[in-house]
Amino acid sequence: MLNSFLRRYRVSALLVVGLLLSVIPQYAAARAVQGPRAVEAASTRERVDINAGWKFARFTTNPDSLSYSVLKSWVLPSANNFINGTKYTRPSGTPPGSNVQYVQSTFDDKSWESLDLPHDWAVKGPFNAPGVSGGEGRLPSNGVGWYRKTLTLTKDDLAKSLFLDIDGAMSYSAVWLNGNLVGGWPYGYNSFRLDLTPYAKEGANQIAIRLDNALTSSRWYPGAGIYRNVWLVKVNPVHVRQYGTYVTTPKVSAQSATVNLVVNVDNTGTTSQQVDVVTEVHLADAATGNPTGNAVATFPAKSLTIAQGSSQSLSSSITINSPLLWGPPPTQKPNLYVAVTTVSAANATVDTYETRFGLRTLTYDANKGLLVNGEHVYVQGTCNHHDLGSIGSAFNTRALERQFKILGEMGNNAFRTSHNPPAPEFLELADRMGFLVYDEIFDVWQQAKTTNDFHLIFNDWSEPDLRNFIRRDRNHPSVVAWGIGNEIPEQSSSTGGTIGSRLKGIVQSEDPTRPVTSALNSAGSNAALVGVLDIVGLNYQGEGLGTSTSGSYPSFHSAQPNKMIWSSESSSAVSTRGTYIFPVTSANSATVGTGSGGNPTALQVSAYELYATSWGSSPDKVFAQQDKYPYASGEFVWTGFDYIGEPTPYDTSRSSYFGIVDMAGFPKDRYYLYQARWRPDFPMVHLLPHWTWPDRVGQVTPVHAFSSADEAELFVNGVSAGRKKRAASTWRFRWDDVKYQAGEIHVVAYKGGKEWATDSKKTVGAATKMNITADRTEIAGDGYDLSFVSVAIVDANGDLVPSASNNVTFSITGPGKIVSTDNGNPADFTVFPSPSRKAFGGLLLSIIRPNVGASGDIVVTASSSGLPSASVTLHAG
Ligand code: GAL
Repeated sequence: MLNSFLRRYRVSALLVVGLLLSVIPQYAAARAVQGPRAVEAASTRERVDINAGWKFARFTTNPDSLSYSVLKSWVLPSANNFINGTKYTRPSGTPPGSNVQYVQSTFDDKSWESLDLPHDWAVKGPFNAPGVSGGEGRLPSNGVGWYRKTLTLTKDDLAKSLFLDIDGAMSYSAVWLNGNLVGGWPYGYNSFRLDLTPYAKEGANQIAIRLDNALTSSRWYPGAGIYRNVWLVKVNPVHVRQYGTYVTTPKVSAQSATVNLVVNVDNTGTTSQQVDVVTEVHLADAATGNPTGNAVATFPAKSLTIAQGSSQSLSSSITINSPLLWGPPPTQKPNLYVAVTTVSAANATVDTYETRFGLRTLTYDANKGLLVNGEHVYVQGTCNHHDLGSIGSAFNTRALERQFKILGEMGNNAFRTSHNPPAPEFLELADRMGFLVYDEIFDVWQQAKTTNDFHLIFNDWSEPDLRNFIRRDRNHPSVVAWGIGNEIPEQSSSTGGTIGSRLKGIVQSEDPTRPVTSALNSAGSNAALVGVLDIVGLNYQGEGLGTSTSGSYPSFHSAQPNKMIWSSESSSAVSTRGTYIFPVTSANSATVGTGSGGNPTALQVSAYELYATSWGSSPDKVFAQQDKYPYASGEFVWTGFDYIGEPTPYDTSRSSYFGIVDMAGFPKDRYYLYQARWRPDFPMVHLLPHWTWPDRVGQVTPVHAFSSADEAELFVNGVSAGRKKRAASTWRFRWDDVKYQAGEIHVVAYKGGKEWATDSKKTVGAATKMNITADRTEIAGDGYDLSFVSVAIVDANGDLVPSASNNVTFSITGPGKIVSTDNGNPADFTVFPSPSRKAFGGLLLSIIRPNVGASGDIVVTASSSGLPSASVTLHAG
């Protein structure tokens, strides 16, 4: 796994962590230098980033008469390494597609689009793609997509095993090399490897990849295309297998840790080989993830004789004294180790392979909750979908790091990868930054949620998908639970128990060290599936659906007294950043409806943060209910960030209202409510609403403050509106009778009788200028790094104008491009790549990417009629 991606990742992780350092000292790290984009050549193993230089075409009617049913028997053998029973045999005869023009090297693809991966063909729009539902985000993700690229291979390469590693392609991938169908993988969220060796030749090799996305394949925006990184792996015929190491740590204490290691070595050559395998363990550098210093321990060297075409595995064990443990901030540190495995034959190294891992104990206590290294860690988690807002599903490490950083500052310590395997970099980042991960694979089993979802192939692919997923992710210390399903339609039936038990058996055969869970929204506590699970995961029902406070935590706890319980999904509160709708409910949670927190004409929901879906609850209600049950081990809020699609409650919008943070990355008021509960020692108070209401003079305009304090006093134009004490399990102070008058509201919060934090909101004047800022002004010219540039429209005093909706155009000079813009408005149908967009709630975002090899200044300018232009300079290099 020593590869250019990891270098790239390490660096950008570092940059984020460096930023975090200024805000939260627990995320400490040092600085490093950005690595190259393309190749890291080791003498023995090369893992080459082949993202650059592809040709692409999308077809809305089938251009080639191929389909999964036609390709299926040639694709199924690609699953063979992940099936324990009878393997598939590749059919004899000419495979389908051999005559399709796109797989031929002679095909002229000049007119096709030129692009670099990762690529999401749908995100550029336009919206309202025919047949694509609001749930799926109204973007053109459907259709057949063909990707083509020429790979140049040398004679030396041909002496090696050559693998194509695709981290994720949406969906039903089928791959041809030089006109030969190599194989494929249908599930768009899994990573997969295909063996190119039999079809490779010296010189130019034509690779062609076909993807096929049906309409109604998903409940949310699936994205489309080869949307994650793609690699060419060149190894000696004797090499460590794909996901070929497995580290477990059966005993860990402050004094010592026992580390067990399994190494699987394949010999795909034509002669038997005698090899020596040795693995040294080093502490990983906190910033780069690279091995540091001398080995802290060495697994005993072993000799293996591996017959041609076969594999051998070895197991060994070591002890590390005085280990540095992995654990979540703020109380623990995410220390990592690296196992460096060297395979040699006749005293020459034939392969080296790195495995990063962490040392920690996890205890899942039915009464105390989750303990990491013996310390109770309340699960303060969020669920998130895979899209990254306006850049769509095209994976970008820096964009994900930004999400992690923003959510981490809120006190978020855990993520649920709802409802599918994440990009591999997601887990690298979680390991490095110290987040806990509930790693989930399926949203459906045999019964459909949408016509063309995974249920169509569940019977054939659930085993290989699950084995592949667990083997890929099981060395990550961040992973604390395996999720085998979300709100599975079979959850209450005996079939649910049978399938759940089969899937659990598969998980345990690949990784017996972690618990299996599934998210239950309707199953009762005695359902067969509940008996199968190690952790009981409740979606919404634990706290009580909607406004009901009769939750199912007690019945599950008494039916399953030995199992830890958490809210695998909670809240589903909805809001639009900066939007306040009157009157405001006096309850602590209400269902959003017309005249009750929602405006169906403007397609917006109130940000008083009291409104939720009919099955969901405000954060306030979830907090109170969780605290009622001391055994509740925490929650995964639906969701951390807004995402494309699923625009409940207004299906005609483009993106969700669920996020604590809007899709552009601007926190909603809700962010501070979670921060108040989740970071009790962080002095903060946050006031809402904004205080510019010319139409509300004399009208009741409730003022609320979210704070980690225990008392707060509000002043309206200097006059006290009362000092209030915070009630148990609440983090909201409310002054519901305040009548609006222009001026200023100011809150002083107290903890233990001492001033803790203050906040104010002023009545603002007309918009006079734009403040432009970049989250990072030093960016790498590697074609991947991004700068997130924000514009705030402010008045003469520099205060945000909350109603500002000025149209702003971004322009750029220098070696970069504007990738996309956004404003967090779920009802804005301006296409994402547009450089012009209206501000929303006074704010706007533009995402800038330097060109490959860029060096020098990139000046980003925001222009808007009637306002002076504003610029920020980025330095690429
Ligand atoms: C849940 C479901 C999530 C999402 C959410 C919206 O029931 O598991 O995927 O759809 O509802 O509230």
